[in-house]
Amino acid sequence: GRCVVAVDGPSGSGKSTVSRRLAVGLGARYLDTGAMYRAITWAVLRSGIDLADAGSVAKVAGEVDLRIGTDPKGYGVTADGVTVDAEIRGPEVTGAVSAVAAVPAVRVLLVTRQREIIADAGRIVVEGRDIGSVVAPDADLKVYLTASEAARAARRSAEDATDVATTAADLARRDRLDSTRKAHPLAQAADAVVLDTTELGIDEVVARLRDLLTD
Ligand code: CDP
Repeated sequence: GRCVVAVDGPSGSGKSTVSRRLAVGLGARYLDTGAMYRAITWAVLRSGIDLADAGSVAKVAGEVDLRIGTDPKGYGVTADGVTVDAEIRGPEVTGAVSAVAAVPAVRVLLVTRQREIIADAGRIVVEGRDIGSVVAPDADLKVYLTASEAARAARRSAEDATDVATTAADLARRDRLDSTRKAHPLAQAADAVVLDTTELGIDEVVARLRDLLTD
C-alpha cells in the first residue's frame, strides 16, 4: 500500500545515503528534493540574472523544464533537456542554492511538483529540509537526522575531496540561511523521530528506521 517516509536534516547528516538504502529495502521510490532546488539554481546561474532579484529568479524557475527520476539506485536530473547531475553538485550551484531556495515562489512551485511525484509513487522515501513540515505533513514516518558539525563536515569533505575547513564554512553558512529563511525553513516537525547520527553507522540508522516502520 501507500507509504511515505519523510527524511529531513542538515547537510552531512546522512540523509541521502540513508534515504536511498531505506527506499531500496522497502522496494519504494526515492525523491531527492535538494537536487530539484539545485537544478533550478543551475538554470538561474545559466540565465545570468541577478540572484538577489527574486522576481527574475521566480520567472526562470517557472520556465525551466525540470525532470527528475525516482529510482533509488540511480536517478537523473535534467533541466531544459540538459543532463545536470554533475553540475548541480559543483561549487557554483552549492554556493547559490540556499539563496534560490529562499524565494517563496520557487518553493511553492517545487512543493507542488514534489506532492505530485509523491502521489504518483505511492510508496516513496522523500528527503529534504521541509518534507515532514510542509511537503508531506501526513507522512507515515518522519525522521529528522542530525550530527555534530564536525562529523557532518568530515563526511561531506570525504565525499567531495574539498578540505574540511572550507566544507565546514559552507555547511555553517547554508545551515544558517536554510534555518532562518521565512518560507519553509529547515525545521524539525513536532512529530518527527530525531536521530543523532554522529556515532551511528549508516546500517544502524537504516535498521532503526525499518523498525520504526514495522512498529
Ligand atoms: O546534501 P546537501 O545538504 O549538500 O544539499 P541538498 O540536500 O542537495 O540541498 C541543497 C540546498 O537546497 C539546501 O542547502 C537548501 O537550501 C535547499 N533545499 C531546500 O531548501 N528544501 C529542500 N526540501 C531541499 C533542499
